[in-house]
Amino acid sequence: MNAVDQLEIRRPDDWHVHLRDGEMLKSVVAYTARQFARAIIMPNLSPPATTAAAASAYRDRIWAALPEGSDFTPLMTCYLTDSTDPDDVAQGFEDGVFAAAKLYPANATTNSAHGVTDVARLMPVLERMQTIGMPLLVHGEVTDSDIDIFDREAVFIDRILSGLVQDMPDLKIVFEHITTSQAVEFVDGCGANVAATITPHHLHFNRNAIFAGGIRPHAYCLPVAKREQHRLALRKAAISGSPKYFLGTDTAPHEVHAKESACGCAGIFNAPFALESYAMVFDEENALDRLEGFASEHGPNFYGLPLNEDRVVLRRQTVIVPDDLEAAGSRIVPFHAGEDIGWQLQF
Ligand code: DOR
Ligand code: ZN
Repeated sequence: MNAVDQLEIRRPDDWHVHLRDGEMLKSVVAYTARQFARAIIMPNLSPPATTAAAASAYRDRIWAALPEGSDFTPLMTCYLTDSTDPDDVAQGFEDGVFAAAKLYPANATTNSAHGVTDVARLMPVLERMQTIGMPLLVHGEVTDSDIDIFDREAVFIDRILSGLVQDMPDLKIVFEHITTSQAVEFVDGCGANVAATITPHHLHFNRNAIFAGGIRPHAYCLPVAKREQHRLALRKAAISGSPKYFLGTDTAPHEVHAKESACGCAGIFNAPFALESYAMVFDEENALDRLEGFASEHGPNFYGLPLNEDRVVLRRQTVIVPDDLEAAGSRIVPFHAGEDIGWQLQF
């Protein structure tokens, strides 16, 4: 059988994006907006977007930063804290400001210091979300320093997520950027109200990438990449055709000096070649026919949003990813920097 050289799919959406703010927002938003029709925008700004008013103002700044003529739609999220007001969340959802709310366990990752210290405190908010059908997006890692960093996702499932799913059987939950076979097993075992996003980087590399010949800050993100067996489980889930798994890049730009530092930031900037990066994986797995479901259908179906009607074309074509890109008066190193990518999205 001839290899497919061109693939046309419904235009995709990205269900997990960090666009930042200010100059960085202006520099990075076009990369996401040219590939995706819509994106779920993470609220971990400094200070975080914890109210509908703050999210609405942030959405205005995103619109203002978009290139002329862009039809990109940012879908905003509420950063949950110990003192989130259920009425504000529900009103924001009803008014179309919020598409979902994000649960960061306090101190789990970048700008999560104001996150939730105890999920029990969130119950009134979660009950309300369950009633109105508003999705909860979860950064699924425990934060205890005595739990090995490579175990934090699996322990989160045992200690927090499984109880939450039992207590809130109708709450729509997206387990974000899953990294383990335990997460895949968990999501597979839940009802249709529990889904997961998978990043391109967790499909491409395992934890060895962080230590290949020396410490590699550009392969560091949270949740940190795990062993090979976990990467393989994620690949299997992504290409399975299951409506529970969908595209969420977790593109997370940091200036080069913040990554290449004695205490480097977590995050991988994969927006410039995101769809191509996923296409490589699906191609390697002989599953290009499943890319459209993962990239363009499962996400909107889960969120209860219409599918995009326009289409995009990917061509089998070698592209060399730049070593770095200009952003906010500085440089950012993109995912796949200096490597060949075998696909190119046609513009
Ligand atoms: O690697 C990550 N970077 N993981 C996160 O959860 C947050 C993100 C960021 O905001 O930089
Ligand atoms: Zn993220």
